[in-house]
Amino acid sequence: MSKNENNESQIASHWKEEELIHPSNLFAKQANMSDKNIKNKFSLENFPNYFKEYSDLISWDKEWDNILDSSNPPFYNWFVGGKLNASYNCIDRHLLKYGDKPAFIWVPEEESEPDQVITYNELYKRVNEFAALLKDFCKLKSGDRVTLHMPMIPELPITMLACARIGVIHSQVFGGFSGSACGDRIIDSESKILITADSYCRNGKLLDHKVKADEAVSHANSNGTDVEKVLIWKRYQDKYSSSSSIVQGRDFFVDELLKSYEGQITEPESMNSDDPLFLMYTSGTTAKPKGIQHSTGGYLSYAAGTSKYYQDIHPEDVYWCFADIGWITGHSYIVYGPLSIAATSVMYEGVPTYPDAGRTWRIAERLNVNIFHTAPTTIRMLRKAGPDEPAKYKYNFKLMTTVGEPIEPEVWRWYYEVVGKKEAAIVDTYWQTETGGFIGTTLPGVEPMKPGSCGPGALGISPIILDENGKELPPGSGSAGNICISNPWPGRMQTIWKDPERFIDTYFAKYAIKGSKKWQDWPYVTGDGATQSSDGYFRIVGRLDDVINVAGHRLGTKELESAALTVQSVGEAAAVPAVDALKGRVPELYISLKPGYENNEKIINDVKQAITANIGPIARPSHVWVTSDLPKTGSGKIMRRVIAAISNFVDVGDTTTLANPEVVQDIQNFVQNEKKKLGEIPQDISKEVEEEIKRFGSQDN
Ligand code: WT7
Repeated sequence: MSKNENNESQIASHWKEEELIHPSNLFAKQANMSDKNIKNKFSLENFPNYFKEYSDLISWDKEWDNILDSSNPPFYNWFVGGKLNASYNCIDRHLLKYGDKPAFIWVPEEESEPDQVITYNELYKRVNEFAALLKDFCKLKSGDRVTLHMPMIPELPITMLACARIGVIHSQVFGGFSGSACGDRIIDSESKILITADSYCRNGKLLDHKVKADEAVSHANSNGTDVEKVLIWKRYQDKYSSSSSIVQGRDFFVDELLKSYEGQITEPESMNSDDPLFLMYTSGTTAKPKGIQHSTGGYLSYAAGTSKYYQDIHPEDVYWCFADIGWITGHSYIVYGPLSIAATSVMYEGVPTYPDAGRTWRIAERLNVNIFHTAPTTIRMLRKAGPDEPAKYKYNFKLMTTVGEPIEPEVWRWYYEVVGKKEAAIVDTYWQTETGGFIGTTLPGVEPMKPGSCGPGALGISPIILDENGKELPPGSGSAGNICISNPWPGRMQTIWKDPERFIDTYFAKYAIKGSKKWQDWPYVTGDGATQSSDGYFRIVGRLDDVINVAGHRLGTKELESAALTVQSVGEAAAVPAVDALKGRVPELYISLKPGYENNEKIINDVKQAITANIGPIARPSHVWVTSDLPKTGSGKIMRRVIAAISNFVDVGDTTTLANPEVVQDIQNFVQNEKKKLGEIPQDISKEVEEEIKRFGSQDN
């Protein structure tokens, strides 16, 4: 165990060092970046000029004059004086060479329904026509905000790119969110137009989506924000699929309106590099959502550069990012990044295991996907549902990405060996909605991978780990602290929409030297805990708000969960704190099993044993609850605050943003009945402790 673990300001770290694994020579030979010297070129002494390499990937209407204006930290402008259009960069400039190449291949969830292949030429036509409609019919102009509440249909990127074409700031709300969550975002962004769809397919069902638009508009209305028009895309051509009625003068079908704009060309608006391209709201589950504001020039350059060098996308690749465009991953790595470098980007409407555990691999095989990008939660889900499925399909991945949360080494190995067939390089890309693109990852043509670690800082990014007092923890210290980024970079958010104070408070106040005009005095605080090993690789241990403090030992949820996942039968695990009179908090583990395994006492003991062996007796969970499923957000993250509330008999709070709210009651009945039988109902939980439990992990989206 670490010598520092009694120090409250640091998180104990008990990871065992994993081995380095080198991507194959075959991969390195064809990689977009295999220059062994590249890291030196991007070292801090060359800051900020090295980011010219990224801006050179973009076509500028007018070249920039000054690479970085950092005179007013932490507000920065990149590529100052430059002018460009994101839609032009993602479409028009590729037409000559790649006009007939698919830009998107959209795969509907129903396997009998044909794919929609949209070439760059077709994308050009559809984006131009829709942009004309937005300008003429909706009277939208550069700088206006529009809220999109759309599912994974091809019209979503078309809508985004049409907005970008005329300088309108889009704010896409994840389709799985409720109408009132959408309404909150309409209010904050002051959108007069809502763009939605009538329905979409999910897990074999056609979900009514337009009903949420009605709820969103009335919610916004009751707060004084008047939505003038609702534009509705139809999931099925010529067929309206929703139970909601059309409000005359407010609701309009896009396909009908588009008839008047057939063949129209809309010139791309030349935007300033620092004009906002979009807003993406991140929701803590309790606090007001933050409108993360991204720029045009900095963001697009960063998305393009990281797509090229880290995802290794070449125009001839078939690239599938299995995420939802409603999250930043989809914005940067389904739409803006890949399209800016002329990729073919696959979009899938549905769930990974519909209609069976082989679906994902069938899509990969059929479309010849060679780059695959997804999140640990999807990987775990696929591993749980069909650990042997990938072997049955003949796809060839050269590269795979994992993103969104720490991946347990156990799960990483399955991904590498079974999904990647030991041929695909893996990049574990660490970043956030706020960072615009990857900030920690290995460079696959140059650096080896390490299971469970994201790797070093991405090109031009200089992460540091600070303890609670702002002291830097050196590599190999064995302790975890707050991972911060010491320098500005082009993909970083500009501010929180309309709330610069909150921007400073949330991301800088902790360590900044206020009043200083030097960027060096304003490290960007990610809010994540991490350790750095002596080789410079970072390992993220989870959000700092989900650390479990057992008798003064601060345990990261991730390491408890990783240890639980070393037990063969365990498919998923979540660790939460339970209030304990003696130790303050003790961990409780919630697990679900892989198919073919029955719940029994042995599994529970094995999990306790694995945690004791991997971390130490201090971490031994008081209970291991075996449940059929765990409550998850739309983006697939386990919502630990809900099960933490259950374990401590406090109110579970808002569950409307869960993808599977129905599991909550079952888990609650089961766990609380068991605890009642054992006489373990916590007494006298103070208001502060109750708030801590309710907030536990609440920065997870
Ligand atoms: C949080 C950001 C980044 C796009 C999707 C999520 C966690 C993200 C990793 C990774 C360990 C990761 C962090 C971060 N996270 N990627 N590779 N390894 N943790 O975006 O919803 O803004 O969440 O996700 O805790 O702060 P987000």
